[in-house]
Amino acid sequence: MSPDAETTGHDLKHVKRLLDFEPVADDFAAAVIAGLSADPKSIPPKFFYDATGSDIFNRICETEEYYVTRTEVALLKAIGPEIAKHAGPGVSVIEYGCGSSDKIRSLLDALDGPAEYWAIDISRDHLLKSADAIGRDYPDLGVNAVVADFAAKLELPDQMAGRKLAFFPGSTIGNQTPAEAEAFLTGVRAVVGDAGALLIGVDLKKDLDRLSRAYNDAAGHTADFNLNLLHRMRAELGAELNPDGFEHRAFFNQDQSRIEMHLAAKGAQSIRLGAHEFVFADGETIHTENSCKYDIKGFQALAARAGFEAVQSWTDADDLFSIHFLESASPAGGARNYGPSRFVPG
Ligand code: AVJ
Repeated sequence: MSPDAETTGHDLKHVKRLLDFEPVADDFAAAVIAGLSADPKSIPPKFFYDATGSDIFNRICETEEYYVTRTEVALLKAIGPEIAKHAGPGVSVIEYGCGSSDKIRSLLDALDGPAEYWAIDISRDHLLKSADAIGRDYPDLGVNAVVADFAAKLELPDQMAGRKLAFFPGSTIGNQTPAEAEAFLTGVRAVVGDAGALLIGVDLKKDLDRLSRAYNDAAGHTADFNLNLLHRMRAELGAELNPDGFEHRAFFNQDQSRIEMHLAAKGAQSIRLGAHEFVFADGETIHTENSCKYDIKGFQALAARAGFEAVQSWTDADDLFSIHFLESASPAGGARNYGPSRFVPG
């Protein structure tokens, strides 16, 4: 990543600066070949999100069973004033992956005169559209767009107005193993600096039935989401496979505290991709996603290992989802854990 990544000649009316690090487009073919050659077989979850997959994900969020998104959105709105108090006035918000504009808007609305917004996303078109819309609707906010893969090491300008507040909603952190999450948060800590803070949404451990239903919705959207990988392989890579020869499987792995999604072969199957042939025994799976679930203390401990101390953690009334406000730990390392507090609507 070089300083000449900065582009000034863009034609977006409401975006002050555009930094384009030109992240290499993910090579789906290479990832599939590597993943299906491995034992056990796997494909990374980031490949779920082509246009069709993103639509299906939105449908998942509408189901009764998938509590994650609606619970986080409601909680975020409810605790806005408390977040604003912890953040202080005139902060620069750095959003890791600009997914739902719903969430960033409720944060910006709650904060006390936020100075700047730095939106980071790997998808340039999606990023510029949403950053421009935010700039249009928040004329006093300095909006900046960063085209980058935030999972890689990220160098943002040190000079931002006020305090840096990183925002990572959606429990996207759950796709990473705890060790990966710790490394990622260590990078976020470096970006926000000694005076910085992090607001992050994290899904919670809960009763098995509830968890399992969230990833096995009755309408079958989660199954479609998972199986969409096979359709992408056929359409984009010309893979020869029988999409009806695989089925969606999602279950809670107690030892690892995570939902795992797999595509399981019904009978012996094979996937042919160019010169490669991948054979599946009956019941053999492709592991397509982990969605790690934490408890409050466990997540705070992970964040502490990355250099963040918990200022406050909130959950909804049913203890489904958590949001954490963390600050860069002072070198002295004073314990300052006020949470968790439950928001009870009323
Ligand atoms: C977007 C990663 C938070 O793990 O719950 C939803 C993705 N997978 N249903 C999650 C997902 C299956 C989701 N995250």
